[in-house]
Amino acid sequence: MCGILGYAGSSDILSVLVSGLERLSYRGYDSSGIAIISDDELCHWKSEGKTHLLVERHLKNLRIENFSVGIAHTRWATHGAPNDLNAHPQLSMNRKTAIVHNGIVENFAEIKSKLQLSTTFHSETDTEVIVQLIEHFASKEEFSFREALCLALKQIEGNCSFTVITEHDPKVIYAVKKGQPLIIGLGKNENFIASDMNAILPYTKRYLNIQDGEIAMVRQDGYEIIDFDGKPVAKKSHVPSEISGTLEQANKGSYKHYMLKEIDEQPEVLARLLHAYAGDGKQLDFMPALNSKNLNLAKLERFIIYACGTSWHAGLVAKYWIEEYVHVPAEVDISSEYRYRKGVSRRQDGVLALSQSGETADTLAGVQLSKEQGAAKVISFINRENSAMEKHSDGVIRSLAGMEIGVASTKNYLAQLLSLYLFTLHMARLKKTMSAKELARRLDELAVLPSLVRKFLLNKAAIQKIAKKYSSYKGFFFIGRGLSFPTALEGALKLKEIAYLYAVGYPAGELKHGPIALVDEKMPVVTIMPESDTYNKMMNNLEEVKARKGKIIAIATEGDERALAAADDCIFVPRVRSYLSPLVTVLPLQLLAYYTADILGRDVDQPKNLAKSVTVE
Ligand code: F6R
Repeated sequence: MCGILGYAGSSDILSVLVSGLERLSYRGYDSSGIAIISDDELCHWKSEGKTHLLVERHLKNLRIENFSVGIAHTRWATHGAPNDLNAHPQLSMNRKTAIVHNGIVENFAEIKSKLQLSTTFHSETDTEVIVQLIEHFASKEEFSFREALCLALKQIEGNCSFTVITEHDPKVIYAVKKGQPLIIGLGKNENFIASDMNAILPYTKRYLNIQDGEIAMVRQDGYEIIDFDGKPVAKKSHVPSEISGTLEQANKGSYKHYMLKEIDEQPEVLARLLHAYAGDGKQLDFMPALNSKNLNLAKLERFIIYACGTSWHAGLVAKYWIEEYVHVPAEVDISSEYRYRKGVSRRQDGVLALSQSGETADTLAGVQLSKEQGAAKVISFINRENSAMEKHSDGVIRSLAGMEIGVASTKNYLAQLLSLYLFTLHMARLKKTMSAKELARRLDELAVLPSLVRKFLLNKAAIQKIAKKYSSYKGFFFIGRGLSFPTALEGALKLKEIAYLYAVGYPAGELKHGPIALVDEKMPVVTIMPESDTYNKMMNNLEEVKARKGKIIAIATEGDERALAAADDCIFVPRVRSYLSPLVTVLPLQLLAYYTADILGRDVDQPKNLAKSVTVE
């Protein structure tokens, strides 16, 4: 979602801001813009579309002299179409103050209708309301800019973090944190504001979190933090940290797309997780951090799992594992449903919140809600470091997937699955629902997983061929049973989001309760049918589809001659125990979506309308 960057320093400001915008672009965006104070005057440029358009249209031959501070933004439209007018920065009517913003002003219509008596608005955004309101106070002589900002903040409702520069105070970037993440990057004789460390990694790894309810005032030579009442916040409550990530992680190397690179990184991610959490398969030292926090996991009597999108699919798989091996019920919700459905979480419930980014607004709200409702413990499975969700959780299990840039989640999904499986084993040990011998056997068998996945990924050409064969079809079904049902959902989601094709996942047993009406020779059906207890049932479903002339792409266990003979096309996955099948059956589905999208010329890494971190509801 929207990315924010601010710079106070003396390096070439345009190149710092433009390169930062490029590093924020992975979040998904539809327009971008920049504002700079030069010779104490505000100037700005913005453009719909990708950052290269901003550069080509406005910045190509520009040289900025005598600058003090600048801000930049990638916008993911919420209020108003993605066009030049609605792009950020948004300016006050007198063009003295500029803002870039992430989040939503819930009461913007109300504020706007009051301001409209004296102010002309130029955009449809809620953002413009903030800057006009600030300027409404700032242009009165009795208020300093800082006071004006605090007065405006008293009226603004909703989760919205933003950054402002102004001719009233031309050497300062004002950064307001109200929900969405914002950090101060601390460089040598230069400082930054960013919504995401990635934007400033080439310049510094030292950063400071701005907390909710705080305003940071950042200059080239330092910073000051105040609260929304304008009172100073003691510096000792803010200790700078250092990020461990490197720039290399955000590099495509020789790959055409980040997504393909990230799919190929999966064996490495699995190996890293096994090393970190399962002593390379030899001991179940599952996150000493969880034990040391006195989480009392053995006492939990139910799990509530929530997440969005791909992370939700990982949660659905975990339900099967937890119920079968830990013998406690597990409920799975989509976060945006959970937070409004007035469910109950009690002292005996463990909540598992799953999120790659740790920033997803609905999942974060769920974490806060569960704590308010008195859930025993909230354990988050998160990939990114230093997220808001992490701060609100009792325990965190990191996915260790490394930076995921492609908007479509791939390697983090596999990492979530393995973490959840290991967590299940850990719980089974604590609850004594699995013998030590069985536990040891299960850990031992995991050791080969990375090499099985690596071997599978060496043979992509056949999948690319199948993608080509079916790329002209307009709709797809994905069906599976048991553990393969969430995989069907995930395969369909991948195809929808990056290839823009209609694709729907179904539990195979449901097909004949309605959806089969859509099956004909124009509707390919992907059947996810690894060896399992329900294999024969899946075979029956396959035959039902064939009888209606549906084309079958079967995902089956290597050596499965029946599937090979029955399907139009068959992709074999490595042989693993059926309970581990979700870790291998999703691989061909990721590749099928990837190649189809590429063949159709889609923007694979930044599909239209999508954002990597969904920080608004
Ligand atoms: C799909 C995808 C999304 C995310 C969802 C949740 O490929 O990436 O569906 O899974 O937006 O994001 P996180 O996991 O960051 O909470």
